[in-house]
Amino acid sequence: MNEKQRLDNQQANSSDKKSAKDYSKYFTQVITAPSLKDAKKRGKEEVQYHNDFTIPEEFKGMGEGRKFYIRTYGCQMNEHDTEVMAGIFLALGYEPTDRTEDANVILLNTCAIRENAENKVFGELGHLKALKMEKPDLLLGVCGCMSQEESVVNKILKTYQQVDMIFGTHNIHRLPQILNEAYLSKEMVIEVWSKEGDVIENLPKERRGKIKAWVNIMYGCDKFCTYCIVPYTRGKERSRRPEEIIQEVRHLAAQGYKEITLLGQNVNAYGKDFEDIKYGLGDLMDEIRKIDIPRIRFTTSHPRDFDDHLIEVLAKGGNLMDHIHLPVQSGSTEVLKIMARKYTREQYLELVRKIKAAIPNVSLTTDIIVGYPNETDEQFEETLSLYREVSYEIAYTFIYSPREGTPAAKMEDNVPMEVKKERLQRLNNLVNELSAEAMKKYEGQIVEVLVDGESKNNPDVLAGYTTKNKLVNFKGPKTAIGNIVKVKINEAKTWSLNGEMVEEIEPAEVK
Ligand code: SAH
Ligand code: SF4
Ligand code: F3S
Repeated sequence: MNEKQRLDNQQANSSDKKSAKDYSKYFTQVITAPSLKDAKKRGKEEVQYHNDFTIPEEFKGMGEGRKFYIRTYGCQMNEHDTEVMAGIFLALGYEPTDRTEDANVILLNTCAIRENAENKVFGELGHLKALKMEKPDLLLGVCGCMSQEESVVNKILKTYQQVDMIFGTHNIHRLPQILNEAYLSKEMVIEVWSKEGDVIENLPKERRGKIKAWVNIMYGCDKFCTYCIVPYTRGKERSRRPEEIIQEVRHLAAQGYKEITLLGQNVNAYGKDFEDIKYGLGDLMDEIRKIDIPRIRFTTSHPRDFDDHLIEVLAKGGNLMDHIHLPVQSGSTEVLKIMARKYTREQYLELVRKIKAAIPNVSLTTDIIVGYPNETDEQFEETLSLYREVSYEIAYTFIYSPREGTPAAKMEDNVPMEVKKERLQRLNNLVNELSAEAMKKYEGQIVEVLVDGESKNNPDVLAGYTTKNKLVNFKGPKTAIGNIVKVKINEAKTWSLNGEMVEEIEPAEVK
């Protein structure tokens, strides 16, 4: 399929005719608009893989004398999409800038996961209005997960006419064409595909760092947890072919990267969509660990698909890190059922038992939602007791936020906000207590730290992360940046460790 056919296909698949009518009262050029109905669909059609991305000849000088600025919200997936868009901007001849005032194009790469994530973006759009008034030629774009929501696009049309273009997560490879439309058009340009596109392998990437890199292994999510917007904003699960991933990791190793993180919303479902081979995350990790790169991580794991083969492979250690982020969301089987997480408290604890048996020194972290619709005190207590039982080192904790279009948003909810806030506070107290305890154990120990650079607050101090992803601040020479060094910990804080470098070491041996 070529670019034109692909676009025609997308347009045929989406309800743009209806949307164009709806949007007719606005000053807008709707190429394709988001549709929640289409985003819910999961088609049987096979994923098409492409290696045919090119910058059309006529756009090659587009960025000459112009600067771009991208602000990223949300998860690593979005951070990585920003790296791809930065790559496209550079290929178009734009220069990067880290000051909005100097930019000719500003993109907000947005996150839709909770209401407060969205409010941050609306706030920023408000701030940028003044800049847009001062510089009418400035192009202001909204992309990422919020663009995929019908309600957000409507709100932008109504209230934020300073926006020049809106495009979604499935068509970032169309950035050159969208920019071109926005330069030519006096109207707001909207091109959001509601159904996932294919996998395009050869997009340019301008990675932000030279030490750690993200590598997508799959896109989308088919889990449809009842509270979550991601399956609608990121489309169906599509795995990249193993040979493409392995080649990318080899290439990163050859460039001197020290750590890679394999990315997906539900990495444990990797490979389930392959029709010709039986190949899962365990198989992929088993191959990647043989590549000469000191550290390999992955995120995010869904407990339901975490299989024994993966545990077996992770237990081989070496460059596979001894830290697993394993979101539980709730400790109550009843709540888990309403969330459609598809595991019980007991099944989760059994998985934890297996992981701890195979990798005795493993560090587990998690995500938890409190105040789910109608969550009782007893159900919340079960979350606290599970937290202690697993003895997590850290958790990201959230108050449930209703997301329009998801099943949970339609549920009646008898839990007052005050109660939800109290529960969050109680949970956070426990999280802090266990984190501080876990950190205390490091005092006097020597840990291996991959040095990222100078500490944010003090340029005389270096900062980096241990194998278990603990932040360490320490005194050491600047030459240590980018290397793995040994640090003796002399002080533990709740969220970080302080220490002194004792020696520089060779990367972990690959078994
Ligand atoms: N794919 C990952 C999670 C991605 S979103 C997984 O399944 O684990 C990151 C976290 O945000 C989730 O784990 C969940 O704890 C939280 N989250 C997602 N939707 C939410 C909502 N509507 N309200 C509050 N928290 C939410
Ligand atoms: Fe959302 Fe659930 Fe998919 Fe995670 S697994 S992205 S929480 S639907
Ligand atoms: Fe947010 Fe989208 Fe990631 S909703 S968490 S940026 S997948």
